[in-house]
Amino acid sequence: MPQTSTWFYSPADATDRMAQAGYLADPATATTAYLAGALEKPLLVEGPAGVGKTELAKAVARVSGATLVRLQCYEGLDEARALYEWNYKKQLLRIQATGDQSWEETHDDIFTEEFLLTRPLLSAIRRDEPTVLLVDEVDKTDVEVEGLLLEVLSDFQVTIPELGTVTAVRRPLVVLTSNATRELSEALKRRCLFLHLDYPDAEREREIVTSQVPGLEDLVATRLVDTVGRLRDLDLKKAPSIAESVDWARTLVALEIGELDEKGIADTLGVVLKHSSDHERAVKELRLRS
Ligand SMILES: Nc1ncnc2c1ncn2[C@@H]1O[C@H](COP(=O)(O)OP(=O)(O)OP(=O)(O)O)[C@@H](O)[C@H]1O
Ligand SMILES: [Mg+2]
Repeated sequence: MPQTSTWFYSPADATDRMAQAGYLADPATATTAYLAGALEKPLLVEGPAGVGKTELAKAVARVSGATLVRLQCYEGLDEARALYEWNYKKQLLRIQATGDQSWEETHDDIFTEEFLLTRPLLSAIRRDEPTVLLVDEVDKTDVEVEGLLLEVLSDFQVTIPELGTVTAVRRPLVVLTSNATRELSEALKRRCLFLHLDYPDAEREREIVTSQVPGLEDLVATRLVDTVGRLRDLDLKKAPSIAESVDWARTLVALEIGELDEKGIADTLGVVLKHSSDHERAVKELRLRS
């Protein structure tokens, strides 16, 4: 097929190519990933921890030969860390070194490209090569950063008062992820395609685990996925995610456990459950012998 689009030709193409790169997407995920590229719309992926939100953005970048630019969000993240800031130290040094130059000249000197520190949002906009911009864990930021994102995501441009407006030469494909620890603004949601990612069904989780852990016996994989499913139904403090299923599978292979019986489960449960109260509960509810 001729390469006419940077991203995907169809949902099926998204499924196939991401699978080749190790990301097994369900139909809704593949369709939304395709649409994000085709419509050039940011994609907001929401869901519990460890279901593959961040990995989706990485997979899209990997299969498209795009560079991943990541903005990791956290409380207190500000414009200077997200967009750009001036390199004050370097500016000061230049001012000290200018001698009897007039202020106008110095000013023109120090507010130039050379003194600009670009942060992920500006970097992504300025790149002329295919780029996936991952705004990770957007629900961890303060509302002001959401305002900033809105500006950038509506026009794909940034105005730097001293330098002028920078407009994207080539729009990045934007993926925002959220654990939904707080409600995002309607304005931000309106600009995005929305995907709710949840734990996969047993069949898909089995495929994910077996594709990532060579040497895992089929029967063990089935039992593992079934047990993880039952643990998720227990209303634990921290339900096991796909990442934990994969870790568990690795553990079983390393310990050469060829049959996952109740004792095997009880002995290795620490890989899957990270709170002692969850552990106790699981032992009781699944009637495990420790
Ligand atoms: N569809 C999938 N195909 C293959 N691997 C997957 C898939 N979904 C998740 N994984 C695996 O699960 C791991 C965790 O996924 P990821 O880090 O993307 O979770 P997350 O949803 O971003 O979690 P958090 O909210 O904690 O950041 C990945 O490293 C990957 O190995
Ligand atoms: Mg993540």
